[in-house]
Amino acid sequence: MKALVTTGSSGPGLALTDVAPPQPASNQALVTLTATSLNRGEVGHLADEEPGTVLGWDVVGTVAQTASDGSGPGAGTRVVGLVGERGWAEQVAVPTHALAAIPDGVTDAAAAVLPIAGLTAWRALEMGGLLLGSRVLVTGAAGGVGRLAIQLASLAGADVTAVIGRPERRTGLVQLGASDVVVGIEAATGRYDLILESVGGSSLCTASEILAPEGVLVTYGRSSGEDGAIDPYWFGDHSGARIEGLLVFTEVDRHRLGTTQLERMLALIAAGRLDPQVTRTGSWHDPMPLVQALLDRQVDGKAVLTVD
Ligand SMILES: NC(=O)c1ccc[n+]([C@@H]2O[C@H](COP(=O)([O-])OP(=O)(O)OC[C@H]3O[C@@H](n4cnc5c(N)ncnc54)[C@H](OP(=O)(O)O)[C@@H]3O)[C@@H](O)[C@H]2O)c1
Repeated sequence: MKALVTTGSSGPGLALTDVAPPQPASNQALVTLTATSLNRGEVGHLADEEPGTVLGWDVVGTVAQTASDGSGPGAGTRVVGLVGERGWAEQVAVPTHALAAIPDGVTDAAAAVLPIAGLTAWRALEMGGLLLGSRVLVTGAAGGVGRLAIQLASLAGADVTAVIGRPERRTGLVQLGASDVVVGIEAATGRYDLILESVGGSSLCTASEILAPEGVLVTYGRSSGEDGAIDPYWFGDHSGARIEGLLVFTEVDRHRLGTTQLERMLALIAAGRLDPQVTRTGSWHDPMPLVQALLDRQVDGKAVLTVD
């Protein structure tokens, strides 16, 4: 079968090559891939990967073979799911606890944004508890996770401040549900009950300073590549507040995320209440233009590759 494999250290590169098909475990369905979305965490380190590595986390396709333990959707069902590796391949073995049937009316491209970006946004917001009337701040707000987080937080009744890196990234964020859009976290005013932080470095430090008493700061990314130190006496000054790390794969492994949350977001998309923000699509025969656009911060939302 064909798969997109990394081409090695001469720079970020991917090539379609023949690889061995997967051998599904008893709790895994075999899915024939039709679409996948690109994530910064995948494309950011392409050149560092061993040549021939098959990456890929977001899987959309059709069940070719039901899981042998009988769990999950049946053969022929259109599905979306999450895997930790080897998602960019014609056939993917997907654990059924992170696999959901796609309802009519939701396109493959729309569903493809949900496993990594959607589940991360969902869980980060959930870690903040009841959001009704709370002040939520989202950094990296114009990116894939950020645009879904703005919408889900707004649907949950929060007052959302979106932080962007450049003024031109403002477009569309108020329409998604942000009540305020600021350029750089230093421009945010007041205290926040929940902060979703994915830029790292000085953004993480500032986020810790503007957290409300009893607030929650969820750190899940470092798009800037910078380290961010938190003052060891921070907890003394922020009694009751928490800083929590989030890794979506750990949450799925612990069964705190998976099929149920995918199904709920699919239903929101089907009802027209959640916009997947797919703004770039391309063929997996020519993935590098989309990869480069994402690395260059030129994707206003999500980039999706279709398997043709
Ligand atoms: N822990 C987890 O499980 C998990 C899951 C999903 C994602 N993540 C991480 O969360 C972050 C956001 O993911 P995403 O898919 O939303 O990424 P994305 O679509 O590439 O968006 C990244 C956003 O970060 C902002 N940014 C600020 N400084 C940046 C810099 N120096 N370089 C690049 N971007 C910068 C950009 O803002 P402007 O364009 O406005 O400047 C952009 O909107 C990434 O770091 C990703 O690796 C972690």
